[in-house]
Amino acid sequence: MSRPQTFTHMEALTSLSNNIIITIDGPAASGKSSVGRLLAKKLHFVFVSSGSYYRALAWSALQENIDVSQETNILVWLKTLHLETRMNDGEAHPLINQVDPMNQLFEKKVNVLVSPLAASSAVRNFLLRTLRELALGLNIVMEGRDIGSVVFPETRWKFYLHASDDERIRRRTQEGEDDSILERDRIDSTRQLAPLMIPKGATVIDTTHLGISEVTEKIFTDLKDSQ
Ligand code: C5P
Repeated sequence: MSRPQTFTHMEALTSLSNNIIITIDGPAASGKSSVGRLLAKKLHFVFVSSGSYYRALAWSALQENIDVSQETNILVWLKTLHLETRMNDGEAHPLINQVDPMNQLFEKKVNVLVSPLAASSAVRNFLLRTLRELALGLNIVMEGRDIGSVVFPETRWKFYLHASDDERIRRRTQEGEDDSILERDRIDSTRQLAPLMIPKGATVIDTTHLGISEVTEKIFTDLKDSQ
């Protein structure tokens, strides 16, 4: 995979190159999705929330009543599942067996199941392949928990966002969501496979006192300045 070495002449570069991967990792409600979406729009890149793929699998497991406590059940279920991606307004949407579950991905029951399910090695291997294939030949901004550490460890454009627990809980409450984010963080950071961590070489940004456009601007400037 060939990658450009600099973002100094970003526009010229992106018109010539077709596989720039910018990764944004961090805990829940640290601003990854909002910032990633805005950054992707600014750069005319495709935006991928990898969490929506994990959520789509959790939604499907609930629909199909899969007993996810057994890894073998998960393996059998994944063999029958047809996961595709539909591009919608520059953003990748997971389709499961041709259904777009986007409107149901933030329901309480999905919030509860997603992190335990994301600890399964069958699920992680399945989505690792999916997310890597999705990026082929594209310029993308992809956000998640292990994107800079596991999915695309070789990219040189990696960011890690974090914010205080109080601020992150405040953001989720303001969004009207019933989501135990600290419990999800605990599961995500302590699992054996691809735990949430600061990827090697990532630029770390504390978003506690910053707005979405300020963080996006910081990343944009960092990309432009990187040599
Ligand atoms: O980003 P979002 O909060 O939608 O992610 C939902 C869950 O999906 C996370 O809490 C985590 O358990 C899982 N996830 C993951 N690896 C990623 C993205 C999300 O394990 N790269």
